[in-house]
Amino acid sequence: MSKIVLITGASRGFGRLAAEALARAGHTVYASMRNTASRNAAEVDKIKAFSKANGVDLRAVDLDVQSQGSVDTAIAKVIAEAGRIDVVMHNAGHMAFGPVEAFSPEQFAELYDINVVSAQRVNRAVLPPLDGNHSVDDGGGLTVRSIRDPFDRANEQVAPFQGAEIESGHFVFGGGVGRIRVRP
Ligand SMILES: NC(=O)c1ccc[n+]([C@@H]2O[C@H](COP(=O)([O-])OP(=O)(O)OC[C@H]3O[C@@H](n4cnc5c(N)ncnc54)[C@H](OP(=O)(O)O)[C@@H]3O)[C@@H](O)[C@H]2O)c1
Repeated sequence: MSKIVLITGASRGFGRLAAEALARAGHTVYASMRNTASRNAAEVDKIKAFSKANGVDLRAVDLDVQSQGSVDTAIAKVIAEAGRIDVVMHNAGHMAFGPVEAFSPEQFAELYDINVVSAQRVNRAVLPPLDGNHSVDDGGGLTVRSIRDPFDRANEQVAPFQGAEIESGHFVFGGGVGRIRVRP
């Protein structure tokens, strides 16, 4: 059955690839991104062109995950247009490389904000309507993060200088959240 999917940080990278793949699979996909009227305006045009060329339902919507006002406006727009949201992919985020001691507290806080707090901003806007319309099996969320599992020796192979980014990702995972490992 076709789903209404919202993806954050879909101007490029994994978010954009997932948006195009899910639209090709027959879902209505909101490729959300910040700065749709300025820096990412060309990406909005490409999304319209992709949608038309492939006969799929891929739409751009302005959403800056670091602004609750922007998140609330975007979610209200999607629900007004599509009637519901079935699946959210928390993808917007930053990779950061460097020795952990080289990060200033301000840089660490910025990383934590984009990789952790931003997902909470989106959840606060999305979950009430999503919970009201669906069973657990019917909708859901996916967070794209690098994680290091302390009980998994295989993950000791995580690249050096990725500590700050990975530690910020740890906090996204709480009780009742399943993990699916994707490996190259
Ligand atoms: N690449 C990897 O190897 C890897 C591995 C594990 C996990 N991840 C995680 O997977 C996700 C995607 O990675 P990627 O490699 O595809 O990254 P990417 O190419 O750098 O893309 C990041 C995306 O996040 C968006 N973004 C950043 N700040 C935002 C904000 N405040 N509001 C809305 N969107 C924002 C960017 O939008 P703009 O164009 O506006 O900047 C961009 O679309 C990230 O969360 C990353 O941490 C990546």
